Amino acid sequence: MSVVYLNGDYLEEKDACVSVLDRGFIFGDGVYEVIPVYGGHLFRLEQHLQRLSNSLAGIRLKNPLTNKEWREIIEAVVKRNSDSTDQSIYLQVTRGAAKRDHAFPEKISQTVFVMSSPMQAVSSDKLTNGVSAITHEDIRWHYCHIKSIALLPNTLMRQAARDAGADEAILNRDNKITEGAASNVFIVKNGTIVTPPKDDCLLPGITRDLILEIARNAGLSFSETDVTQEQLHTADEIWLSSSTKEILPVTQLDGNPVGDGKPGKHWQDMLARYQEHKKLLRSGDAQ
Ligand code: PDD
Repeated sequence: MSVVYLNGDYLEEKDACVSVLDRGFIFGDGVYEVIPVYGGHLFRLEQHLQRLSNSLAGIRLKNPLTNKEWREIIEAVVKRNSDSTDQSIYLQVTRGAAKRDHAFPEKISQTVFVMSSPMQAVSSDKLTNGVSAITHEDIRWHYCHIKSIALLPNTLMRQAARDAGADEAILNRDNKITEGAASNVFIVKNGTIVTPPKDDCLLPGITRDLILEIARNAGLSFSETDVTQEQLHTADEIWLSSSTKEILPVTQLDGNPVGDGKPGKHWQDMLARYQEHKKLLRSGDAQ
């Protein structure tokens, strides 16, 4: 039984209801966050709340809660679902329910929802053999830095990958790689880790930023620069990163092997450092 938070109440999931006129339902008018919880400890909460605040500002919605209130609610949901030690918190804020009209209604109260799911560990097959990806034209809008709940293009592109027997779609806009349908993208070339710079073409991933922080602290060679389709296709390694998948090695791209077709040594090194960070987080010595 999962307990969720909705507009001030903690409820069993089956009892939590929102109006059919909610603008999240009608227009996809809202934003969200996904926050991992390891052994009861929230992963990079400050950074997630900062991104939430940026996303809310990006859609001209007031943050309904202070960071302290967000923390209290999220911790309460984690506690109420503590049968799974590792969890994934999903939170969503929509503009609320009102008569259907594209422009913002004047009097409206936001819908605030938080739920928790057990965190699914990445399968050992994916860690041993890697995952496959296709390239796909980035068909999204121009505000991809906003973590919008309107994810239809992302779902279409992820499904295109599934239909091709692949795990993820790597997106390309004007011959620049932006990110994955639900992940950030890294390549490794001649020992340098490269990821596209943050702008409005991609989501500023919290996992992405931690990978760069780890690289910086470890003195690894890395760079935030544009990646072309050709650079992607000739990379020694390709990685995907996200809160729920952590860091995955792509070993097949558009049906061809990446590098030697096996997870690369730079990915192995970064994953080990990432797991070390998680260990510190679990003992309360990192965030
Ligand atoms: N998505 N880019 C996109 C388009 C994403 O949807 C995600 C994550 C990321 C990675 O961001 P982060 O490292 O902060 O999770 C990048 C989440 C997990 C989701 O939609 O479920």
